[in-house]
Amino acid sequence: MKEMKERKEKIVMLTAYDYPTAKMEDEAGIDAILVGDSLGNVILGYRDTLSVTMDEMVHHTKAVARGTKHALVIADMPFLSYQASTEDAIRNAGRLIKEGRAEAVKMEGGRSVIDKVEAIIGAGIPVMGHLGMTPQSIHQFGGYKVRGKNEAAARSIIEDSKILEKAGVFSIVLECMPYQLARMITEKVDVPTIGIGAGPYCDGQVLVIHDLLGLSGEFSPKFVKKYAKLGGIIMKALADFKGEVKSGKFPSSEHCYEMKGDELKKLVKHIKSGK
Ligand code: KIV
Repeated sequence: MKEMKERKEKIVMLTAYDYPTAKMEDEAGIDAILVGDSLGNVILGYRDTLSVTMDEMVHHTKAVARGTKHALVIADMPFLSYQASTEDAIRNAGRLIKEGRAEAVKMEGGRSVIDKVEAIIGAGIPVMGHLGMTPQSIHQFGGYKVRGKNEAAARSIIEDSKILEKAGVFSIVLECMPYQLARMITEKVDVPTIGIGAGPYCDGQVLVIHDLLGLSGEFSPKFVKKYAKLGGIIMKALADFKGEVKSGKFPSSEHCYEMKGDELKKLVKHIKSGK
């Protein structure tokens, strides 16, 4: 990834949570696949990411890793899998690598979790940082709000990016912040920045795959661009299937298996004999 930043080649990252999606993203040449803890909202139907467990992350990371040949697979460390102790942090990051077969982990936060970041990197596991609007801290921030809008907040995020870089992260996600701030950070750190709602000057971009495909319902944050409207296509297919089953149009002969004449005759004879 660092070489891509150096040669100014944009890095493309997407989330995936299952085997077929990861396989398609990999075949499409996506550079990095993130098994995000957005798993909670997008796949598991939770209100937010806070309830996502290590077992859920490992389960979905395994599926994504099985579908991926070329892209870098990064798995999110879920809420409270690393905040309490460095021992938790190493053990849980290790599970995502050892059981999930991810190649790196992502952690939200800057200086407040730096000892955990260092411990995981010290254990030989590459870490991606995540600054700005970090969904695991929504209760602290009072909701999903753009971060770094005033000078003091912006300076604090810049300092965090330098602290993360010094600790040895290989990349930093910048989420929901003014594009000018994301640009400054991108220029200040040598590691690649991956933006989501952080403007065009980051070294790469990430989106949640369900948002990009139009599978997330009506609500859509300002930073999402929908490249397809699959939700509508799926709803139409479901309505068509329902209509055809109710009316008897499906299945038609082309979807049926047939027993050949002689065997059928023998079976009918047997049934009629009542034996
Ligand atoms: O969990 C996730 O999907 C993320 C991305 C939004 C960066 O952290």
